[in-house]
Amino acid sequence: MSDFTKVVLNDDEIPRQWYNIVADLKNPLPPPLGPNGKPINPDDLAPVFPMNLVEQEVSTERWIDIPEPILEKLSLWRPSPLYRARNLERALGTPARIYYKNEGVSPPGSHKPNTAIAQAYYNKEFGVKRITTETGAGQWGSALAMACCQFGLECRVYMVRISFDQKPFRKYMMQVWGAECIASPSDRTRSGRAILEKDPDTPGSLGIAISEAVEDAVSDENARYSLGSVLNHVLMHQTVIGLEAKTQLRKVGEYPDVVIGCAGGGSNFAGLSFPFLYDKINGRDMRVVAVEPAACPTMTRAPYAYDHGDVAGLTPLLAMHSLGHTFVPPPIHAGGLRYHGMAPLVSHCLRENLIEAVALHQLECYAAAVQWARTEGFIPAPETSHAIAQVIREARQAKEEGKEKVILFNWSGHGLMDLTGYAAYFDGKLSDYEMPEDELQKYIGVMKDLPKPPTG
Ligand SMILES: Cc1ncc(COP(=O)(O)O)c(C=O)c1O
Repeated sequence: MSDFTKVVLNDDEIPRQWYNIVADLKNPLPPPLGPNGKPINPDDLAPVFPMNLVEQEVSTERWIDIPEPILEKLSLWRPSPLYRARNLERALGTPARIYYKNEGVSPPGSHKPNTAIAQAYYNKEFGVKRITTETGAGQWGSALAMACCQFGLECRVYMVRISFDQKPFRKYMMQVWGAECIASPSDRTRSGRAILEKDPDTPGSLGIAISEAVEDAVSDENARYSLGSVLNHVLMHQTVIGLEAKTQLRKVGEYPDVVIGCAGGGSNFAGLSFPFLYDKINGRDMRVVAVEPAACPTMTRAPYAYDHGDVAGLTPLLAMHSLGHTFVPPPIHAGGLRYHGMAPLVSHCLRENLIEAVALHQLECYAAAVQWARTEGFIPAPETSHAIAQVIREARQAKEEGKEKVILFNWSGHGLMDLTGYAAYFDGKLSDYEMPEDELQKYIGVMKDLPKPPTG
């Protein structure tokens, strides 16, 4: 088959199991720590998450069965198509073959519902009535709103204020799916009020919104908190992407030389790449590249340290690359890539040299997004544009080297709700931002008295 544009699977080809990379790591992941500096007990997480998800979080099983009701909901849009980006290849004149998983076909338009559906299901099974969460760009909030609606759960979303103002359409989507969306920091929680008192004009951050959502959940026994990225079980729920991609590429006789994903908390990147890392761990020669914004350089400039997932320090300490939990990111448009930490599993893979990380500036990413839309048609989310920009770099390099190269990347979401970002780009209102070293040092200073993960 040489002239196809997309590879489409049938409903019964949705993967039946998630892949848990924890089972295949050479060195164990450092455990999350509690306030006393000791590894936390699964029971310590009970006020925050339902126990069925806590069990997944600590599981070391390689494969975990996906319950039938989750498969049924996922089949609303899964399997997602694998495309070959022939028009972009032609425009670049590259010998590289570029493939992408289109996760923009889900109802809210990104990869996020792959875990939102699973989390809503497990919360419902556990008897939870209401779920709280945070959202950056609004992709996660809208995904969870849709998933809660599918399973008859209430949903409250704390949305980072800058995105709440810049991206009003996502909050309307949440409303359509029956969720409540609140600008964060808000006066609903103690942590929100404390921050507003110090800085009433703060643009907010994911770290602040997480504090609010966790505080809200733990103060209501019928509520639990849900996180859209970072944690092991969230990354695992996303592996349906990579597992499908493997089947699709097999059907056309291809295997990637390089796998690329943008990384905010790490979930779409992990979802695509971890099933391929399974092969790499077992001897396959390939590259895996995570792309982050230069304005929030978690993997490329921040230390590997124990840090909290939120500003108020309510979450356990996680071993991860972190800019420090008080980090307030500059207002770049890729709202979903502005988190201060990187998933412990992704951070660990970076330390084990299984993956590489690069940081790109937003003007290059917007230029790549526009080139993509003008060749491939689909308008990408600003987050996704980071992966596209790296794909273009790799494809140009293949051209210079005269090498055939198979590139696979995760097209993590569409940008139809992000057009204000595109408008700002066309109006010349966007600029690049490189965090000065002294500012970086100031942020990471908050971790200096926290325990340190093992080195080496
Ligand atoms: C379209 C899109 N891609 C990527 C991301 C980054 O998140 P993660 O690293 O968890 O995939 C987001 C986050 O909101 C997103 O909305």
